[in-house]
Amino acid sequence: TTDGVSTLLILGARGDLTSRLLLPGLGRLLTLEPERRITLVGSARAAAEQSGWDQILSKAFADARGPAVRHTLDTARYVSADVSNPDDLHRLFQACDGVPALYFALPPAATARAVEVLGKAGMPEGTVLALEKPFGTDTDSAKDLNRLLAGLVPDEQVFRIDHFLGKSTVLNLLGLRLTNRIFEPLWNRDHIAKVDIVYDEELGLEGRAGYYDRAGAMVDMIQSHLLQVMALVAMEPPATVGPVDLRAAKGQVLKVARLWAADPAQASRRARYTAGTINGRRFPSYAEEKDVDPARETETLAEVVLEVTNRRWAGVPFTLRSGKAVGRRRQEIRITFHEVPVVPGGLHGIQGPTVLRISLGRGGMSLELNVNGPGDPFVLDRATLSADFGPGRLDAYGEVLQAILDRDRTLSILPESAEQSWRIIDQVRAGWKAGRVPLEEYPAGSPGPASWTAEHAVPGASAKLPA
Ligand code: BG6
Repeated sequence: TTDGVSTLLILGARGDLTSRLLLPGLGRLLTLEPERRITLVGSARAAAEQSGWDQILSKAFADARGPAVRHTLDTARYVSADVSNPDDLHRLFQACDGVPALYFALPPAATARAVEVLGKAGMPEGTVLALEKPFGTDTDSAKDLNRLLAGLVPDEQVFRIDHFLGKSTVLNLLGLRLTNRIFEPLWNRDHIAKVDIVYDEELGLEGRAGYYDRAGAMVDMIQSHLLQVMALVAMEPPATVGPVDLRAAKGQVLKVARLWAADPAQASRRARYTAGTINGRRFPSYAEEKDVDPARETETLAEVVLEVTNRRWAGVPFTLRSGKAVGRRRQEIRITFHEVPVVPGGLHGIQGPTVLRISLGRGGMSLELNVNGPGDPFVLDRATLSADFGPGRLDAYGEVLQAILDRDRTLSILPESAEQSWRIIDQVRAGWKAGRVPLEEYPAGSPGPASWTAEHAVPGASAKLPA
């Protein structure tokens, strides 16, 4: 179509995100859609180096096949540019065929500088702007960025990217919670006691200290990804799962989400790893990793407890946690139901509440139940029903890129949601900065600080029983 995106222009073409995630995702998308014709323009500060770009591409497309892939490889270009210079940006646009999507695979400061001068760069009509997370660095900078963007193009052309929204494991949540009679009517404070959203990784810094040491786990994972997952878990059922209704429903959740306790010390924890081993791989202490400034006190494991203050969820703690170099790779949404009010006399051995687990890593889910298992029929056993769905047809970045190229905003974050997410996180970080929450330690490869292994007691949670 005339207004369809025909050129993907990547700013930050020589970065880790581009080679490790964006390009392989594009390769899978083009393999799945042999009809698609996309011109790829890579740009970075480094002097023009078509051969270097070709090498990055052929490596990232190693498993990609078919005519769409061949077309993109044959037409790919590299243009060096300083994105804070409008003349350079203008040259970039001239290298595009038709309507471009501009993907900012850049750190927040560089993105902000580029957006500031974009108005003077002769942007082609209809240009799509795709901005990686983190969107800004706090509430105020996110507001500034939204204001700048609003002055450039209508919001239909802005994509605030969160690749977790492209994960099939995250999208599967919609069908699971909204279309099953055994979950849909129970999805509220009357039946659900707590929600845990956990994304612990065995990976460490992986050479990304330049970015990560200024972000930390709270900004890197919770501010964006886990809050978005929480919004999908907690939202009211939308009329449609399209861009208007779904995003509005999620936005309402973020608006009423707040720290579980006014004091960040009671609603958050933080820690950083010390030396240790994971799967035979030796990790130095975080403070000694290359390019880390230990004085920044960056956390590599963070946890925050939130309350969604509406009729559906008041009094239910939502605990969001994410860590690096954690030995046990837990990546899941865990929904813990209330216990039944009464157990008939003579029925023994209740093993705990019903728990629904939805995997955020490999696709799958399980439901833990009390059942009359083998043996004594009056003594209960625990049974786990589980299903494994395997990976989706596309990886998360493939989904995200497909949505950008098709101009489908379902997976893009609303401007006010980006600001609301920062509002929540800024409160926590202010408490940390004021020294209200100690920075604890855990050896790489352990499940976290020793004092955290017991379930986090959420102050006041048990007192707030459903009305
Ligand atoms: C990225 C973070 O957004 O998400 C990384 O910057 C993190 O630090 C990654 O490792 C996790 O997502 P995935 O899909 O790669 O497991």
